[in-house]
Amino acid sequence: MQKMTKTIKTAIIPVAGLGTRFLPVTKAQPKEMLPLIDKPVIQYVVEEAVNSGIENIIFVTGRNKRAIEDYFDYAPEIELKLISNKNYRLLKEIRAISKLANFAYVRQKEPLGSGHALLCASHLIKNEPFAVLFADDVIDSRMPCLEQMINIFKKYKSPVIALEKVNKKDVEKYGIIEGVLVEKNILKIKRIFEKPKAKDAPSNLAIVGRFILEPDIFEILKKLKPKKGKEITLSEALNELLKIKPVYGLKFKGIRYDCGSKIGYLKAIANFALKNKELKNEFKKFLKTFKI
Ligand code: UTP
Repeated sequence: MQKMTKTIKTAIIPVAGLGTRFLPVTKAQPKEMLPLIDKPVIQYVVEEAVNSGIENIIFVTGRNKRAIEDYFDYAPEIELKLISNKNYRLLKEIRAISKLANFAYVRQKEPLGSGHALLCASHLIKNEPFAVLFADDVIDSRMPCLEQMINIFKKYKSPVIALEKVNKKDVEKYGIIEGVLVEKNILKIKRIFEKPKAKDAPSNLAIVGRFILEPDIFEILKKLKPKKGKEITLSEALNELLKIKPVYGLKFKGIRYDCGSKIGYLKAIANFALKNKELKNEFKKFLKTFKI
C-alpha cells in the first residue's frame, strides 16, 4: 500500500445542514452566508483553514447553498463596476476571496447527518490525512485553531479533535468526552458521549467543529447504520475509531462562537465589531446607552 503523507493540505467543510435553529432566515439562504460585519461566517472558517496551511477545500453542499459557490467565484459585474469607480482596494479584496484556495463542491442529496456529509467527499480524498471544519463554529484566536491542531497531529501522528470546556448545564447540547490528560491541554480520548444529561456526563469537555482525520474514518462511516431520525453523525464514527487507534483532544487557545445559534451569532458580531477599527468607538458608545 502507498505510504500515507503526513502533511495536511485538504479540508472538508460540510455545509449541507438545514440550519433549523436559525429559521426562518435559513428557509432560502445558507446560515453560512450570514454576515459577521462585512464578511460571511463561512469566510472566517475558510480563512482559518488557509492560514493553517490548507490549499484544497471541498465543500459538501446541498440545495439552497448555491450562494456559497458564487461567493468563492469571480464576480465580473461587481469587479467591472469597481474598476470603473477606480476602487482598487475593494477590487483587490473581492478578487482575493476567489483565490483563497482550490475549491471543489460535492452535493449531499439528503441531509443524512454530518458523518454522511463527509462520506459524500470521500472519493476526493487521496491517501492523506485531512481536516474537517464545521462552518457553524467561528474561532477567534491568535494562532488559528486548526494550526494548533496540526501541530499536535504532527507530534502524535493520530487523529485530533478540538475540545472546549462548557458549562455543566450545556453538556446536553454537545458530544462530551471521557479522556486522560497526556500533557497540558491534550487528552487521549477514551469515549464520546453524545449529548449526555449533566448527571451522566464524564466531563464538561465538549467536541467542537474541528477535526484532523485519516481516510480510515470513511471505512467506519460506510459501515454505520443511520440511527436517530436517519442521521449518521461523525461522533458515532469517532467512537468506533477510538477502538482501533488513539485519538487526541486539544483544549485549543481561543474563543469559539457557535454561529449556528442565534446567541452565538450575536456574540460573534459584538466581538468582531469591538475589534473593528472603523466601528469600535461608535459601537462601544452605543452599547453604553443600554442601562444593563
Ligand atoms: P449541525 O447539526 O450543527 O448543523 O451540523 P445543522 O443540521 O445545519 O443545524 P440545525 O441543528 O438544523 O440548526 C454540523 C455541521 O454539519 C453539516 C452542517 O452544515 C454543519 O456545518 N451537516 C449536517 C451537513 O453537511 N449535512 C447534514 O446532513 C447535517
